[in-house]
Amino acid sequence: MSEVQHNTAAGLPQHIAVVMDGNGRWANQRHMPRVAGHKAGVNATRRIVENCAKKNIKVLTIFAFSSENWRRPETEVSSIMALFVSTIGAEVKKLHNKNVCIRFIGDRSRFSQKLQKSINDAEQLTMHNTGLRLNIAANYGGRNDIVHACKLLINDVAQNKITFDEITEDLLGSYVSLNDVPAPDLFIRTGGEQRISNFLIWQLAYTELYFVDTLWPDFLDEDFEQALSWFTGRQRRFGKTGQQVIEQQMSGN
Ligand code: FPP
Repeated sequence: MSEVQHNTAAGLPQHIAVVMDGNGRWANQRHMPRVAGHKAGVNATRRIVENCAKKNIKVLTIFAFSSENWRRPETEVSSIMALFVSTIGAEVKKLHNKNVCIRFIGDRSRFSQKLQKSINDAEQLTMHNTGLRLNIAANYGGRNDIVHACKLLINDVAQNKITFDEITEDLLGSYVSLNDVPAPDLFIRTGGEQRISNFLIWQLAYTELYFVDTLWPDFLDEDFEQALSWFTGRQRRFGKTGQQVIEQQMSGN
């Protein structure tokens, strides 16, 4: 992805990636079961989707379930799975009416047939929509994304579709998830931890990282505004000096 494509026209990010952390703690604080936190988290997810659509942000990628989340207690995993099915059932038509294009990234083969069908149907229904692109990372891991990309690439080398010498960062990047959208400009993680947690590790190489203590269910419209205003104050250098960036901006390139 070239620098020009990374640039933000109105100072707003084109692509936002979010780790929605803190649902469990939100529920604990209220002496509620953890799943109640995930349910409240769905409301926060709905809010950020609507806010991105309103602001004409092109891409939103959310981390709904990591490949490591299977290690949680079985009861929590199954209630998250049930929540996915019910949320997709309740939200997809509304998102479709708002022209949102939904895609899932990650290995969906481990999900129940029912959930896989909901995922496939959501993608099919919304595939031609031209508004916000909503990527939902489910059973996703960044390292595995890169391993998968390498396997595809090696396969193409073995079949003489590409040569060893043609392998570049851009070429490998064309095999990882989200290769058809610009890399995230802004990464938001709620819940106070300052980690990437194996989210889009390839794609986040030049992303501005924003960490906030607010728990995900408490992430309101004003918190989103604050994240955006923090982002617009950043100077994105992509390896250049600050002076070069200013000169580049003044010359309009
Ligand atoms: C992390 O909080 C949150 C999750 C693992 C699940 C996030 C899922 C949703 C908000 C539902 C979204 C639904 C769809 C269909 C996209 P945590 O449980 O790690 O919180 P903790 O760190 O406080 O324990």
